[in-house]
Amino acid sequence: MSEHLDRAFSPASLGQLPLKNRIIKAATYEGKTPDGVPGEVLKEFHKSIVAGGVAMTTIGYCTTEADGRINDQMMWLHEGVRPQLTSMIDELKTLSPGVKVSGQLAHCGNFSKNRKMQRLKRPLGPSRAFNMLGAPSGLPFAGAMTLADIDHFVQTYVDSARFMQSVGFDAAEVHFGHGYGLSQFISPRTNKRDDIYGGSLQNRMRLPMRVLEAVKNAVGNDFPILGKMNMTDGVKDGVHLAEAIEIASMLDKGGIDALICSGGTSSFNPMVYFRGESLVTGMIEQETNPIAKLGLRIIGSKLFREYPYYENYFLEDAKKVRERVDCQMVYIGGCTELDSLEKVMQEGFDFVQLGRPLIKDPDYVKNAKANPNYKNGCIHCNRCATMIEAPGGVRCPLNDPQSPPLLATT
Ligand SMILES: Cc1cc2nc3c(=O)[nH]c(=O)nc-3n(C[C@H](O)[C@H](O)[C@H](O)COP(=O)(O)O)c2cc1C
Repeated sequence: MSEHLDRAFSPASLGQLPLKNRIIKAATYEGKTPDGVPGEVLKEFHKSIVAGGVAMTTIGYCTTEADGRINDQMMWLHEGVRPQLTSMIDELKTLSPGVKVSGQLAHCGNFSKNRKMQRLKRPLGPSRAFNMLGAPSGLPFAGAMTLADIDHFVQTYVDSARFMQSVGFDAAEVHFGHGYGLSQFISPRTNKRDDIYGGSLQNRMRLPMRVLEAVKNAVGNDFPILGKMNMTDGVKDGVHLAEAIEIASMLDKGGIDALICSGGTSSFNPMVYFRGESLVTGMIEQETNPIAKLGLRIIGSKLFREYPYYENYFLEDAKKVRERVDCQMVYIGGCTELDSLEKVMQEGFDFVQLGRPLIKDPDYVKNAKANPNYKNGCIHCNRCATMIEAPGGVRCPLNDPQSPPLLATT
């Protein structure tokens, strides 16, 4: 094994948290929390991931309050799920001694189809907006947060971070990207405020920086806070790399332990972070309404911009971010094959997060350590990502003999 791969599989510390290697499961909301409960299905999935040898798994998209959910099947962090989370984390750590568990702290902001809002009647973001996702389910508009809403929003992150620490999580990943709540404040595309939370970058970062400071104060220094951020929003008038580098520098100075540099906006341009086969392929497969299915076949190709897949597609931009920060850097994006892992390590990144490669092969680490010619097998068809609301949630269709062949090839 080369010295760089050897480094990937050797112990390292994330902030003050010892990890047994440098491979972390990326946050991939798996649609395995029916009615918002992290029960057996989610546990079995993460058991397979930790048994495969990663150093840390991440429970994706844990929202900071009930109204921060995109749909009502998502989990929000509250006392009602304490027993399930505690027992899941205990079991994961027993199954794979030394493994760590992180959770992604997220809030949808203005982008939701959750009709079971508890406090609010409609989603809220930085400014009034059309809520494309909610339109079919009767939530076509999102409102603008008041200053009191903003204070409440920060407090939900504090309460959730403390809750995570109390149920046994080892780290938290704050989602600053992909067009969700905090990202909506950062992006000039969605933040049209004219108060201290809008306008200049300093102002647009005021809420994210408040969240970071409050969360860090709440959990202390031995509980690492990672931040997932956008290097580009992938939309007109959004954040681009030059501004993203300033954003990274601000988060770094604010005490973030590690940055994960991604890109894209779920509502407008998610293919920036997926690359490869359009999500439409899987959406057509999953659609049960024949009229909607036909509609998708006719206009589907226009719904998503094309971004051809290539390995390590965020690497060059992530290197530019890294030049400006002192915190640790976690590489994410298309690190599927061993050559790519080797390259990321050679470039000096501290850790790597894997999403689809671990959905394809939860035993990635075990298999790659055992076989220098290991091939992962993920073909970036992105059909896993369209199973979020399918029965049982996300899985790799290539691992499932019942799965239909890829539409693009039929
Ligand atoms: C099924 C699925 C669900 C995802 N859910 C999330 C999520 O909840 N939060 C997030 O930040 N990214 C999410 N992502 C994006 C991944 O974390 C990652 O950024 C992307 O898949 C690129 O990494 P990869 O090439 O290793 O898959 C999801 C991706 C997939 C495939």
